[in-house]
Amino acid sequence: MTSYGTKIKAAALCAAMAFGGTAAKAEMEYQDVSDLLHLVMSSDRTVYTRMIVNRLAVKEGVIKASEHFEDDKALVLPAQMFRFGAEMVAEETDAFSYSLLSLWPINKQNAPTTDIEKEGLEYIAENPGENFYGEEELGGVNYFTAVYPDVAVAEACTKCHNEHKDSPKTDFEGGDVMGGVVIRIPMDG
Ligand code: HEC
Repeated sequence: MTSYGTKIKAAALCAAMAFGGTAAKAEMEYQDVSDLLHLVMSSDRTVYTRMIVNRLAVKEGVIKASEHFEDDKALVLPAQMFRFGAEMVAEETDAFSYSLLSLWPINKQNAPTTDIEKEGLEYIAENPGENFYGEEELGGVNYFTAVYPDVAVAEACTKCHNEHKDSPKTDFEGGDVMGGVVIRIPMDG
């Protein structure tokens, strides 16, 4: 396990001291770290969806995308791509973790489980373009928890969800908030 956690905390402390040592500033730093992590995640997610899945499965129809990608010899779904990355990160560090959730999940395991997750998903659905930031205590650890809108950036997103037999919502449109990326960073006690 590498020591990214220590580095994130050190960065937060330095920033707090430089700006007058207030807790609020340290907190802001968690938000900055989280925002940057999210920028990388969402860019990769959008590129994979637009340039691989949407191009090959929807526009050119040369291969489909399927959750049973091995059996079907198909493309990995964008959500699976995202989860595989999150699982690999979790093997390397506990300095942060992330997941993709929704109030209308195809996979029931992607429903919110904590109060902050639920509040955050509701907030980003009602306030398009905004992120949600909060704090929560889980298992005796305090976390900075951010929820970012996961938006329908390609036709493939809405088409697949609206047509999926397990989807509780079938009227997603381009640009809609379909769920949220949750990033969690443990804070100093
Ligand atoms: C070809 C089908 C397909 C495409 C394309 C697709 N999804 Fe999904 N999506 C799924 C399936 C199936 C799951 C559940 C997968 C799992 O958890 O193993 C899922 C999961 C999700 C989740 C987590 C909640 C849930 O429904 O389980 C979100 C949010 C989501 N997708 C949004 C999007 C967005 C936004 C796009 C476009 C960038 C997209 N999806 C593209 C099929 C698709």
